Amino acid sequence: MIKTKSPEEIALMRESCRIVKETLDFVGRNIRAGMTTKDVDDMVYRYITSCGAYPSSLGYGGFPASACVSVNEVVVHGIPSDRIIRDGDIVSVDITAEKNGYNGDAARTFMIGDVDEEKRQLVKVTEECFFKAIEGLKAGTPLYDIGYAVQTHAESHGYGVVRALVGHGIGRDMHEDPSVPNFGRKGTGMRLKAGMTICIEPMINAGTYKVVFHDDGWTVTTMDGKPSAHYENTVLITEDGVEILTL
Ligand code: MF3
Ligand code: CO
Ligand code: CO
Repeated sequence: MIKTKSPEEIALMRESCRIVKETLDFVGRNIRAGMTTKDVDDMVYRYITSCGAYPSSLGYGGFPASACVSVNEVVVHGIPSDRIIRDGDIVSVDITAEKNGYNGDAARTFMIGDVDEEKRQLVKVTEECFFKAIEGLKAGTPLYDIGYAVQTHAESHGYGVVRALVGHGIGRDMHEDPSVPNFGRKGTGMRLKAGMTICIEPMINAGTYKVVFHDDGWTVTTMDGKPSAHYENTVLITEDGVEILTL
């Protein structure tokens, strides 16, 4: 079932989303080579809780941390650990915060120090995929136009679009209907409605779209070991466009 949010609910979503955005900005200012992915998680936990919010990932389906921290070939759901972040790495940090019962969810891929051109281009195109997806998006747009836009842009650069993981609705729950794939056929799927809040989150691989699910129950890596980037925002659909709540 797809819920549209009331103005009161949207006000609460704005607050949670603002906290997510500020947390990611804070991480962006502080993340550096030599830190462990656990250090990043600590920063996220402290920032979110200091805002009076809860890091929804912590305990979600048994996930043991406040942030997903995914380095290079890790696509998403990297479990914070003793892995040291090195100069030249790209690190995706994906966080969800809940306040007053509503969630905001966003991810950024940070470039650490001197990053090679292949990874720079991948990070740039992944962000562009998000912005292509929201171009012209508004109430009435067919849902799979989002995936069509992401896929067209990513594949024009020779990249692989992850199929096994998708975006989603968001609200009281971190994951609500509908699923929002990053691939699809233009003009198909349900029509979006004003008041829907969804997460659009391209996961783009430098090589094959195929991924491996690891036996820790979480970590997802590229099958060919090439790097992957992730960019996510929580978006509100309106009559005449979208509002990016986590930007
Ligand atoms: N934030 C992720 C998403 O974009 C989900 C996090 S999975 C968790 O959907 F286990 F870490 F919570
Ligand atoms: Co997320
Ligand atoms: Co999400």
